[in-house]
Amino acid sequence: MTTLQLQDQIALVTGASSGIGSAVAIALAAAGAKVAVNYARSAKGAEAVVAEIKAAGGEAIAIQADVSQEDQVLSMFQQLYKAYGTIDILVNNAGLQKDSAFVDMTLDQWTKVIDVNLTGQFLCAREAAKEFIRRGVVPAKSCSAGKIICMSSVHEVIPWAGHCNYAASKGGVMLLMQSMAQELAPKKIRINSIGPGAIKTPINTSAWDTPEAEAELLKLIPYNRVGVPKDIGNAAVWLASDQSEYVNGTTLFVDGGMTLYPGFATGG
Ligand code: BGC
Repeated sequence: MTTLQLQDQIALVTGASSGIGSAVAIALAAAGAKVAVNYARSAKGAEAVVAEIKAAGGEAIAIQADVSQEDQVLSMFQQLYKAYGTIDILVNNAGLQKDSAFVDMTLDQWTKVIDVNLTGQFLCAREAAKEFIRRGVVPAKSCSAGKIICMSSVHEVIPWAGHCNYAASKGGVMLLMQSMAQELAPKKIRINSIGPGAIKTPINTSAWDTPEAEAELLKLIPYNRVGVPKDIGNAAVWLASDQSEYVNGTTLFVDGGMTLYPGFATGG
């Protein structure tokens, strides 16, 4: 009998009712984890993800919470512990864009993006880390006391005109992740980020849903293919598993080479 890589580990994936989050939830479940599928608004989307996991023989529940609200995050962790007892893997995925030219950007657009993309990651990571420290390593499950995967972006390093709030949030996620990793590694907690490039999800539909848009986008991707959510799900399983035990405080870019500055392939 083969044991699955994440057998019996408990995972929470925030923002998992669609897009990258849903693919990560499905991939972790396929690797043996019991998954809490967090959603802010789309109960229908989350229930569909739970149903897909169960249909494949996995285990999952849906939990509602807006990750930018401390009381809702605390309540989500309580619901998780009631259902599954503990947490082994947190995927800090919930995120959004509120795009605007810089001079027209409202404080509301700025604050909403920072609150969800950055503060939400802080609040969820803090709760998960408390439980990892309280419980410690369970050798039968994993070499680490817990794993946190922060969903960042290529825009933690690539500046992005028209998206200053989003780029600032992801730059913040980079140093939040690295600082948490530095602080918590001695407790055997591993914290890393995934930096997706352009992945076909609802957040960026206009960037790929016409042949013209896709052709423009491909100029930014040396590998010449737009990513799909499963690309990120596969990376998340690896980062959550003991296969990556010695990987700490790193961003794994899953971007078809977008961070290679393809404009310099012929210019410069
Ligand atoms: C953004 C997408 C964008 C991609 C590459 C992601 O972080 O959410 O809208 O297509 O970066 O630019």
